[in-house]
Amino acid sequence: MKFKVSILLIFGFLIGSASSSNLCISKTLSFCQYGFNQNLNVTSTTADWTNPGTLSFIIRSYYLQGIDGLLPVCNARQQFAQCLGDQYDSCMSKLNFIASGESPEDAQAYVQLFRTMEFDCDGGFIQSSRNWPCIAAVLQTKEDMLNQCRQTYNDALKKDPSSLCQSSADYETCYRHFFFTTCGPEVSWWACERTRRGLSIDTDCPMDTCSLVASGVSSGDATSSEGVQKVFEMKTNAALVMRQLAAGKH
Ligand SMILES: *[C@@H]1O[C@H](CO)[C@@H](O)[C@H](O)[C@H]1NC(C)=O
Repeated sequence: MKFKVSILLIFGFLIGSASSSNLCISKTLSFCQYGFNQNLNVTSTTADWTNPGTLSFIIRSYYLQGIDGLLPVCNARQQFAQCLGDQYDSCMSKLNFIASGESPEDAQAYVQLFRTMEFDCDGGFIQSSRNWPCIAAVLQTKEDMLNQCRQTYNDALKKDPSSLCQSSADYETCYRHFFFTTCGPEVSWWACERTRRGLSIDTDCPMDTCSLVASGVSSGDATSSEGVQKVFEMKTNAALVMRQLAAGKH
């Protein structure tokens, strides 16, 4: 009897420690997704990993509202990440959703959406916040071309899955081009890095990095590109910038 109890305890402990650090618990994820949707006034009950297109549409519509749309998205994302806590990274893996029965495309789209928001609102927030009007304009006016970049990527991968790193690099170059021509080198870097983070290829393609200036694009004068370089070396402090932005709002 005593023996059985200790086995159960050990077993329970193993499950408990695994789930608190390694696995994405779908109940927790559902709860955090619900909170995210509430923060963005999403009424659709299926706007989650089973329906990444709906979620993506909603977030895009906030983004197109300008900085006043970016901030609530970032706020909702921040709370979502805090809600998942140390499960965040394991939940933001497409394998997790494929294992629970989602199609690889939906799994990829959902994770990509959240990883992209993570960059927009965290690692790239300084660049996002001070360039958002231009970014939103490109997202809107170049939508077809940006979608074409993604389509080309998807087609290339489907044809040859082993081309992941080259296809990803091509996708980044294709995507950033439209931001470079309209918004300049800082946003071009931002667009490349956001694409790269969205694809979650750190492990598969460690050599893939986003340079300040895309290869084959002339950099303009040296002083402005040095200025931009300084920005990238700066430690980002998204929370501070967000507070300042919020304080500046009426
Ligand atoms: C959600 O709706 C409430 C009530 O209409 C409104 O006050 C709030 O600003 C909305 N939130 C967002 C992020 O639009």
